[in-house]
Amino acid sequence: STRSGLFTYKGFNFISNVHEEGYVDTLEQFVIRDDDIFVVTYPKSGTTWMQYILVLMYHSKDLKEETNKRMMDVVPWFEVKSKVDFNEMPSPRTFLTHLPTSLVPQGLRHRGKVIYVVRNPKDVAMSYFHFHNIFKLLPDQKNLDQFLDDFLEGKVFAGSWFAHINDWYNHKDEFNLLFLTFEEMKKDRHGTIIKISNFLGKTLDSKTLDIIVEKSSFENMKKNPTTCFERNFPNHFDSSKGSMLRKGQVGDWKTVFTMEQNERFDRIYQEKTSKLPLEFIWD
Ligand code: PPS
Repeated sequence: STRSGLFTYKGFNFISNVHEEGYVDTLEQFVIRDDDIFVVTYPKSGTTWMQYILVLMYHSKDLKEETNKRMMDVVPWFEVKSKVDFNEMPSPRTFLTHLPTSLVPQGLRHRGKVIYVVRNPKDVAMSYFHFHNIFKLLPDQKNLDQFLDDFLEGKVFAGSWFAHINDWYNHKDEFNLLFLTFEEMKKDRHGTIIKISNFLGKTLDSKTLDIIVEKSSFENMKKNPTTCFERNFPNHFDSSKGSMLRKGQVGDWKTVFTMEQNERFDRIYQEKTSKLPLEFIWD
């Protein structure tokens, strides 16, 4: 079962006022180009961060121009019906998605590239908890304890974090996929951006690289109105309750989780990720 504001379709949870039931069916046969790039994430794992890095790499000719562009027009949210005609987008096209492997276009298994960003799920849960209270299309969450119940049971948009990571990890060899963690981006933005550009076959001179590294810092993104997700849903944000670019830290959960919450989380984490070779930086 799902919470208010959500609906389930083909085993995946969508947001009622954002997604259209059945629209994903039209995407199954979407024609993928060789140079298409998909950022795939569970929500709150670094989507906007990676989206902006792609904006800087591909959609800002002189790295000043990007201030005039709307991120969602150049790196659209794939499963949301958009005014952008995906077939008219110039190559290389860049998209973001939260979909599971079963719902992405079939062609992505043969063409295109995928960057999957994963974040330690305790920080994801914290970030998601706050996001529910600022994004009005998701049900308000009065307390973390209740939210954790929903999160751990997957009764949130995009379903269970555990299912998402298991799904993408277990199918990763079927895609041309680069696996990145939020924590490694946080620790070494410079190195991670080089890794991304190598994977994408995109040469960056050292000056451009430095600018991208600089512009994609948390502080600079927070100051930059073009990276503001809230712009995409102008009527659906309560900015008095916070912002999408909230803290951008590793280990924020530690300041808030009670011992009981942490133990409950660990128990389920161990049970549901035992087959994955994941080693997160937790704090
Ligand atoms: S969404 O709604 O799924 O698109 O959210 P998403 O963009 O995946 O996640 C939002 C969190 O990412 C943090 N963020 C960053 N952290 C560090 N550096 C940079 N540059 C950066 N950009 C975004 C953002 O602050 C959210 O995390 P929290 O912990 O809530 O601050």
